[in-house]
Amino acid sequence: MRDAGLEVRSDAAGNLIGRREGLSERRAIAVGSHIDTVPNGGRYDGALGVLAGIECARALAAGGPPLRHALEVIAFANEEGARGSAWLFGSRAVAGLLEPEEVGRPDEEGLALADRVAVFTGGPNAIDGARRPPSDFRAYLELHVEQGPMLQALGCPIGVVEGITGRVSMQATFRGAANHAGTTPMDLRRDALVAAAHMVLEVRRLVLDERLARVGTVGQLAVEPNALNIIPGVARVALELRDGSDEVLAAVPERIRRSAEAIATRSGTAVEVHHLGTTRAVPTSPAMQAAIERAAATCGLRTYRLPSGAGHDALAMGHLTEMGMIFVPSAGGVSHSPRESTSAAACVDGCDVLLNAIAETDQLPVLAGEN
Ligand code: GLV
Ligand code: MN
Ligand code: MN
Repeated sequence: MRDAGLEVRSDAAGNLIGRREGLSERRAIAVGSHIDTVPNGGRYDGALGVLAGIECARALAAGGPPLRHALEVIAFANEEGARGSAWLFGSRAVAGLLEPEEVGRPDEEGLALADRVAVFTGGPNAIDGARRPPSDFRAYLELHVEQGPMLQALGCPIGVVEGITGRVSMQATFRGAANHAGTTPMDLRRDALVAAAHMVLEVRRLVLDERLARVGTVGQLAVEPNALNIIPGVARVALELRDGSDEVLAAVPERIRRSAEAIATRSGTAVEVHHLGTTRAVPTSPAMQAAIERAAATCGLRTYRLPSGAGHDALAMGHLTEMGMIFVPSAGGVSHSPRESTSAAACVDGCDVLLNAIAETDQLPVLAGEN
């Protein structure tokens, strides 16, 4: 990092922060993304934005125009929400958006996120120390792979993000009766997995037929005792629904609860429904969209405005400061898969636009005082 002129520290949430001071402003232009990944994930989701941030700091240290603002390059911790934990963990800790309940909830190994983080931060209550005030920042910029098919289909090298989707995540636990698979008559069964299977289809129906949200997914299923010859006694379904409208998302938890309870009644099971959390949708700042477009024009690159259906650290940072996001094309629109790919040339384009967008942001009116 020394050739990038960054002083590096880690904070109480496990984020890595490299900072260099500016000519006159204490507020920082922050750039970054995350370095964790999903199971069986790709090499670009997150890592590209962190490496591009370091590369921009390097270019600036090697004789780029001096910035009025400080520059921070941030590698956020646990953006994806490993082990069923809170997503955007590091960036939401910085933005003060973590709920105590999320941090204290035990995961499938019985450890809470607070305990896991305490291993390297010095105590379970330390996470709050990662929180930053809005007055620390001028803006946040993130370069990321699109993770969808639009830019490639349009033959457009740079996406300018208009806003980032919100998300509701929930868990429904169906409890039936574990029993012998060979001796229990079909009409006497209380099969928790059959109930869960109905729930999987219900989430799809609610989105397609009732337009409950833009998309809905059941991505995780845990079955107990999970043996070939035992009727499942417990089935845990983790699901999420996403939409760009907070109003739409507000109606989701109650609707899912009603569906789960109806399925439980029909299948002779009991159900507990937990609303794990709602992340509000965040629009991108118009000034930052314009700054990115000017940056792309300087690089001779065409742009296309599009919403982000994926969540990003920029979503959390957008609660603290003006945020802008740059997308580069994903081959075949594939992401969260080892087949994820973006050409080296496209990554370089994104990095050039990020560097110019930092310079453009530095020229925006400086903000005074506390926010
Ligand atoms: C993060 O990658 C998400 O959108 O799930
Ligand atoms: Mn991801
Ligand atoms: Mn990502």
